[in-house]
Amino acid sequence: MFYYEADIERVLSGQPFPLISETADELGLETYVIGGYVRDIFLRRPSKDIDVVTVGSGIELAKAVAKRLGRKAHLSVFKNFGTAQVKHGELEVEFVGARKESYRRDSRKPIVEDGTLEDDQNRRDFTINALALCLNGDRYGELVDPFGGLDDLENLRIVTPLDPDTTFSDDPLRMMRAVRFASQLGFFIDPNTFDAMTRNRERIGIISKERIADELNKIVLSPKPSIGFELLDKCGLLELIFPELCALKGVETKEGIGHKDNFAHTLMVLDRLSRTTNDLWLRWAALLHDIAKPSVKRFDNRLGWTFHNHNFIGEKMIPGIFRRMKLPMNEKMKYVQKLVSLHMRPISLADDEVTDSAIRRLLFEAGDDVDDLMKLCEADITSKNPEKVRRFLNNFRLVREKMAQIEEKDRVRNFQPPVSGEEIMATFGLPPSQPVGVLKEAIKNAILDGVIPNEYEAAVRFMHEKAAKMGLSRV
Ligand code: CTP
Repeated sequence: MFYYEADIERVLSGQPFPLISETADELGLETYVIGGYVRDIFLRRPSKDIDVVTVGSGIELAKAVAKRLGRKAHLSVFKNFGTAQVKHGELEVEFVGARKESYRRDSRKPIVEDGTLEDDQNRRDFTINALALCLNGDRYGELVDPFGGLDDLENLRIVTPLDPDTTFSDDPLRMMRAVRFASQLGFFIDPNTFDAMTRNRERIGIISKERIADELNKIVLSPKPSIGFELLDKCGLLELIFPELCALKGVETKEGIGHKDNFAHTLMVLDRLSRTTNDLWLRWAALLHDIAKPSVKRFDNRLGWTFHNHNFIGEKMIPGIFRRMKLPMNEKMKYVQKLVSLHMRPISLADDEVTDSAIRRLLFEAGDDVDDLMKLCEADITSKNPEKVRRFLNNFRLVREKMAQIEEKDRVRNFQPPVSGEEIMATFGLPPSQPVGVLKEAIKNAILDGVIPNEYEAAVRFMHEKAAKMGLSRV
């Protein structure tokens, strides 16, 4: 116990807590710091968002705190919600009056009434998120933990404070939050709570796609994301929010030949990649790299199972998935598309003889994302055959070495063709037309194939030779 008291003292001795304490005492308001911030004190996770709950008006307390802080503080009042926020430097403190809430079954809009601290704790999602520390002078630092949240923190347990059906029915996003905390913190979901998630899964339908995407992104960013995706799958939420990923599940066997379970494989790739990057979108690329496999799967008597063009079809599926899930339809999505479409290239390169021309083309197409692509491809090698893995990794090393040599020599990573379309049009007196495109493409290919060096004079000479063959003459 002494251990936790030291944590509490360490955090509460620093501002803004003593100042909030004095203000609350002056106003005679019973006041607590509560929720995720308190949980993170004990988990020793850095956290900047402080939630303060007071038995009375949160807005009144926030105004008084902002006044004491002076000009450096910034106060925002959200009258409709009965909340107020005070920003001061790095810190953000949210003030709210203790509430008793109940929800109608068909809506997220709660009926809110003033309540006690106990009422407020009752309506929170998990016991570990319902911990409160008193800020009033005479009880400063006293932990109010009616549901054994501290015990659950120690035992890595996620469990609702009330009957889980009530807690999830009040806000179905909490089912995603349970999975997110399990994945993020390495906790276990209590079996009763988990059963309620399975029962209530359809209620996720009333939650906005944006809130779901936020939680999903936190799962993707957790240390071992497979924990989260397996839990989502087990309770039936995954089928509802991400059916394409569910479709990767299963193994089919024909004529004694099976293929791998692409769901298990995808999660393995995502976990492996997560050891080398915290980039959200690179992790999304891992999640989606084989997403088209179910739709292109064929059995061929000669070749066995094939998944032809799954990378290109996958690239095409991504905008639809991003749109539906309300993920950003911008350069992040394009980046994921690019990695998915190229994810087979380094493998096939490493499989064959590694030619300069193939390396140049890959560098040109992947541009600055080539290192991310290589990371994805290395994570994609999940074979159980150690000899095969060794061979692939060795070939990858060769590909990387060769890429470095070629990039040093030819600079094709962010290559812009040395002769522009305008220059071609001016040289041959052409309007914007097909021959201009043909010439430009021919110059690009000649450079990428190593026929000519990536230099202006050589490109111009090549352009004239090619133009002559096309019957074009200079003006
Ligand atoms: N909360 C809740 N139900 C929700 C969301 C939040 O009961 N659907 C409560 C929990 O007590 C939670 C607190 O509000 O601890 C603050 O929520 P939020 O800031 O969203 O999450 P944290 O738990 O702080 O976690 P994180 O900062 O990692 O998102």
